[in-house]
Amino acid sequence: MATRSVKATVPTHVVREGGGFKVRRPVAMGSLMSPFLLLDEMGPVNYGPKEAIGAPSHPHRGFETVTYLLHGSMQHEDSAGNSGDLNPGDVQWMTAGRGIIHSELPHPDFYDSGGLMHGFQIWVNLPAKHKMMAPRYQEIPEADSPTVERDGVWARVIAGECLGVTSSIDTVIPISLIHVKMEKGAVLDQSIASGLNGMIYVFSGSVRISDQLSVRKQSMPFGFGVKQQASDGELALLSDGDSVKIICDSPCDLLIMAGPEIDEPIARYGPFVMNTRQEIHQAVLDYQNGTLA
Ligand code: FE2
Repeated sequence: MATRSVKATVPTHVVREGGGFKVRRPVAMGSLMSPFLLLDEMGPVNYGPKEAIGAPSHPHRGFETVTYLLHGSMQHEDSAGNSGDLNPGDVQWMTAGRGIIHSELPHPDFYDSGGLMHGFQIWVNLPAKHKMMAPRYQEIPEADSPTVERDGVWARVIAGECLGVTSSIDTVIPISLIHVKMEKGAVLDQSIASGLNGMIYVFSGSVRISDQLSVRKQSMPFGFGVKQQASDGELALLSDGDSVKIICDSPCDLLIMAGPEIDEPIARYGPFVMNTRQEIHQAVLDYQNGTLA
């Protein structure tokens, strides 16, 4: 039984997305985070009346988008005929596959009133053999969401398993995505199957990861520090192993993420993520001539 440790800590920076809303995003992603292509923390931002911004109609092909809302209210609509509201605690797991066109906008009532908006959008890559699969859409409202609470640890299991609770989301490749809240002093031993890439994104408070006295230092090419700790706005990339021990130093919120390395070339252009430039070119053509979705 090998305990995972931190092999690199990646800071976040603030960028603008969609119609111009601010997100916090780890500065180094792509192959380091495989199979995750993107981790955007939307807000927290306090909008005044008629200030909230979203992402109007846009296409996707070749991967999945996962939206998880903590505060605020959004409304979505897509070319497959799906539409609905997204409220705090709700999860939308959209497999774009061969193509989908959708909009992700503040709910009209939220737009009128303003308020706190906070949430995540995560992009999960698909292996080549699944990139052109039929689009699929899974939604778990907060009321049906698998959650668990034990010894100062609360977890919402968006994908995978935590403290004996398993998500109902069907993922194409093995994915763990777990929102964990911990009280100061709480400890979580989370299993992450050996061979999967594991990472922890902290978005409030701070945690120690692994309580091993000596952890072998690894040199990373881009010089981020190696520390067995992660704080608000930091993404800790984990070494291999079959579990990780998380010790909460101050009340904290974090995402545990894990998935397999997709060892394939990535060709990426805006909302399309394929394997070759030719496939990207085809996606753009399909979108332009109306056959993407
Ligand atoms: Fe989108």
